[in-house]
Amino acid sequence: MEQGTISLMNEETKLKMQAGYAVVDSMVKSGMKLGLGTGSTAIHAVRRVGELLAQGTLRDIFAFPTSLQTEIECEKLKIPFFSLNSKELSSGLDLTIDGADEVDPQNYLIKGGGGALLIEKVAAYASSEYAIVVDESKLTKSLGGGFPVPVEVVPAARVQAARVLEKFGAAVILREAVRKAGPVITEHGNIILDIRFCSPINPLLMETELNQIPGVVENGFFTRKPPVVYIACSAGTVETRPAVKQ
Ligand code: 5RP
Repeated sequence: MEQGTISLMNEETKLKMQAGYAVVDSMVKSGMKLGLGTGSTAIHAVRRVGELLAQGTLRDIFAFPTSLQTEIECEKLKIPFFSLNSKELSSGLDLTIDGADEVDPQNYLIKGGGGALLIEKVAAYASSEYAIVVDESKLTKSLGGGFPVPVEVVPAARVQAARVLEKFGAAVILREAVRKAGPVITEHGNIILDIRFCSPINPLLMETELNQIPGVVENGFFTRKPPVVYIACSAGTVETRPAVKQ
């Protein structure tokens, strides 16, 4: 990207871009099967992949976009992309790069602020390596009481699932759409209940527990795939926090 364009960006966007570029420059290699995440940070990694392909520095990338937003960006940038069910990707992904809403000291995550948690989790758990890009504002001491955890639920289970979530000690809010009347409908036809726990919880256990509730399709705790985390800091550096062995 040109220097003039960079100097016009706000600080937050610059940090997101630094993290996105750093992860691609250090982890993406020609020939990779690459999961591409969703959101305003991950999109910079997608753009960097597009840039390196256009320059010829990278070749033969087989991308899997985790959302419509990312698929459209791949189309714009001419990044070849495939279904996860295709023969090209049937053996899984080499690396998935994605953003996160919160990262705790164990590198456990909350994701799904952009509503793409279901396929983001499929991609993460189908990858040999997993990398998360964030700015330092996403780091937190614990998960569950701050940024709300998205729970994707089939519409018919809206009230009953909310009742069970409240019994878990969570405050539950139906995610409302912007510039469309009514709730957010995910790319899979479901609704999202954003929940916040009133007392401390164990995210590792909660990721499994929440998916036991009838009607819950997936939840935004990501604890079972240890990521390396690229953190863009206001000092202008990008730090990496290695994956924590489980
Ligand atoms: C989308 C996600 C995003 O990665 C997460 O919400 C972070 O987004 P951003 O980088 O825009 O803050 O999980 O479902």
